[in-house]
Amino acid sequence: KKGSYDHFMQKEIHEQPHSLTTTMRGRLKDGGVLLGGLKEHLKTIRRCRRVVFIGCGTSYNAALAARPFVEELTGIPVTMEVASDLLDRQGPIYREDTAVFVSQSGETADTLHALDYALENGALCVGITNTVGSTLSRKTHCGVHINAGCEIGVASTKAYTSQIVAMAMMALAIGSDQISTQARRNAIISGLTSLPNSVSEVLKLDAEMKELASSLIDSESLLVFGRGYNYATALEGALKVKEVALMHSEGMLAGEMKHGPLALVDENLPIIVIATRDACFSKQQSVIQQLLSRKGRLIVMCSKGDASAVCPTGSCRVIEVPGVADCLQPVINIIPLQLLAYHLTVLRGFDVDQPRNLAKSVTTQ
Ligand code: UD1
Ligand code: BG6
Ligand code: NA
Repeated sequence: KKGSYDHFMQKEIHEQPHSLTTTMRGRLKDGGVLLGGLKEHLKTIRRCRRVVFIGCGTSYNAALAARPFVEELTGIPVTMEVASDLLDRQGPIYREDTAVFVSQSGETADTLHALDYALENGALCVGITNTVGSTLSRKTHCGVHINAGCEIGVASTKAYTSQIVAMAMMALAIGSDQISTQARRNAIISGLTSLPNSVSEVLKLDAEMKELASSLIDSESLLVFGRGYNYATALEGALKVKEVALMHSEGMLAGEMKHGPLALVDENLPIIVIATRDACFSKQQSVIQQLLSRKGRLIVMCSKGDASAVCPTGSCRVIEVPGVADCLQPVINIIPLQLLAYHLTVLRGFDVDQPRNLAKSVTTQ
């Protein structure tokens, strides 16, 4: 039921303060994290040589958003695999690996084939899924249900943010035996507690994103630059625009800008630069300077109050978002881009909930 909303995607975007609350319900306890589905396996995971994240589409992007804080809080090397590519290469997976499979539906064929492959190779297989009773949930050794509620729109929105939060809790649980990161973990836990309120706040940008969408309606292409915690935000924002608004869009690692993408910059191509506060902020400031000096048409996402810090010339369009703990900022930053993709789709007259040629769950290889 869509209730008062026109489309499921719109409803699911606006429901995120609630879906994130249910993802965390009963799991943040006495200043710590309790994940019933992982607690028997934490010792094994802590001893593993490597964490391998495996998924497709938006679920892969959620894992990419989790990678920096999993590395930071656990000290375990993390590698990323698109499920189909792992299978194409028959890439090495070992008994000493923890393979983490991320899938909203728990039924994506490529992800399930990669799971069979990792099981055959003896890895500990962990699932992060929204679907209780799914093949992924049943076949993995253990895992976490993200409890975001049923997602109907083909473009994944609330599952993405809940996947990131579930993996943040997973990283906190794995790292909970480390004394040196206790203060950092406490800060992230308090950030998780206040996250639904910050999500409600960022959703107030809806009208502003609709207005931005109307200025982009005739663009042929849209680039999104991010780095660090928000590299995944750039990929996922571009994926949303591509899959529902049917506009060419690419997410790019800002650190790679000089190695190719800069050639595309002119007065017409719209470029979104994600420059919220974190350890990469000054690097993003210089990226913005370089784009402006080539007359780039910039839309900059920054932390509240940072408009003149990111764009001293006043020649960029600025989206100001509430600041949260740096590693949780991707949960906030994706929301204006979800809203942008939604409004762009409606304004361009395309089907929001059933985009051309796409399916909610791809169960064939
Ligand atoms: C579980 C109950 C929840 C109850 C809570 C009370 C279920 C599905 N969940 O939640 O209703 O409120 O205890 O303590 O009954 N698993 C996998 N692979 C996956 C996901 C999960 O193997 O991809 C396994 C987990 O290891 C666990 C079980 O499924 O054994 C349930 O996982 P989850 O729902 O995340 O556990 P709890 O949060 O403890
Ligand atoms: C499909 C969907 O391509 O599968 C995407 O259209 C989704 O939205 C992808 O991200 C992966 O699905 P799942 O269920 O494995 O997360
Ligand atoms: Na299981």
